[in-house]
Amino acid sequence: MIEVFDPSEQVHPGRLLNFDFLIMITTSKRLEGIGEYYFSQKLREIEELNKQGKNIINLGIGSPDMPPHPDVIKVLQEESAKPNVHAYQGYKGSPVLRKAISTWYNTWYQVELNPDTEILPLIGSKEGIMHICMTYLNEGDEALIPNPGYPTYNSAVKLAGGATVPYELTAANNWLPDFEKLNAGNLSKVKLMFVNYPHMPTGQLPNVAFFEKLVNWAREKNILLVHDNPYSFILNDSPASFLSVKGAKEVVLELNSLSKSQNMAGWRVGMLCAARERIDEVLRFKSNMDSGMFLPIQLAAAKALALEMDWYNSINKVYRERRKIVFELLDLLNCTYSNEQVGMFVWAAIPIGYKDGYALSDEVLYNANVFITPGGIFGSAGDKYVRVSLCSTTEKLEESINRIKKLVLVK
Ligand SMILES: Cc1ncc(COP(=O)(O)O)c(C=O)c1O
Repeated sequence: MIEVFDPSEQVHPGRLLNFDFLIMITTSKRLEGIGEYYFSQKLREIEELNKQGKNIINLGIGSPDMPPHPDVIKVLQEESAKPNVHAYQGYKGSPVLRKAISTWYNTWYQVELNPDTEILPLIGSKEGIMHICMTYLNEGDEALIPNPGYPTYNSAVKLAGGATVPYELTAANNWLPDFEKLNAGNLSKVKLMFVNYPHMPTGQLPNVAFFEKLVNWAREKNILLVHDNPYSFILNDSPASFLSVKGAKEVVLELNSLSKSQNMAGWRVGMLCAARERIDEVLRFKSNMDSGMFLPIQLAAAKALALEMDWYNSINKVYRERRKIVFELLDLLNCTYSNEQVGMFVWAAIPIGYKDGYALSDEVLYNANVFITPGGIFGSAGDKYVRVSLCSTTEKLEESINRIKKLVLVK
């Protein structure tokens, strides 16, 4: 909508349209209540602090700092040098990539997927969250989202016109949904439920009994389960897919990603795996949004998915070493945490003496020049927590510890 202001009536910081009028552009209604992504704001602040010479160590973002396997880069280099790979690609992705995804699911998750009908490559799994919301939600429809949980579920549901119904996860219930509480709520408008195990930010592992219970529950309630599964290989010896549960394809759409397990976050490659009908439905929306992915990226992604156990072992060896140092850092801050969590972060409860994770995060940022993420950005149930990323070198983590040691902490 464009509002036109008469400058004689009102001085307005709008753009000068012509000599008589200033205009102001207002954003769409759907953006109301949708703030800029927390990290995009925080990175700007960190940049500002760096300009003042602070040299902040950022232990916030979960973007792998290690490169993909050299063979993956070689495929990209060789393929992109060819003259015939630069055209638009099919909306359903390259058959080579779909086949590689199917084999990967079979090898690691013991799930059979038809590469022609049950797989949709995505430009990162984050976009898939939006596509799913746009495909299924009408104005007034509701989606259950985890609290704490990945903030994109909340914004994607709202941007699509739906309403979010947060379900609380607690340490006492092993960060799993409480079925009694779910059943006590009014589920009549709920169409989607987002779940994510291994869970970000808490690092909670899934278990098969829980998967089965949730699939049965969703079938009974006629709710589509969207399982977001980008962390299943990180510090986890038993990668699991929701689709391995009997009957899951009736109700589960599973998102997966090469961002974390293959160190390819900037490449933007993810996937949606589901029953043929669901893939076709989401494709109806997605094919109107983008025009496919650069073929050499798809072929390199196929190579990455064919990597064997030694690849996963090699990255996990690094994360394991880093995690030890992060535990030390959290001990220094008097935080408490579970040793059994997995994924690319450590989730920790803040000590008494801090109002919330924001207070601790600010204290560490402004006094030790180290940024750790306040748990509250993942929802109110994360208020008393902080999250530390494992995507920094051991040297940077050691340096963070040295800086924090110099801090006089509020106890
Ligand atoms: C829980 C969760 N889901 C999805 C994503 C997005 O992953 P991708 O890079 O595949 O878009 C992230 C990234 O941080 C995440 O933490």
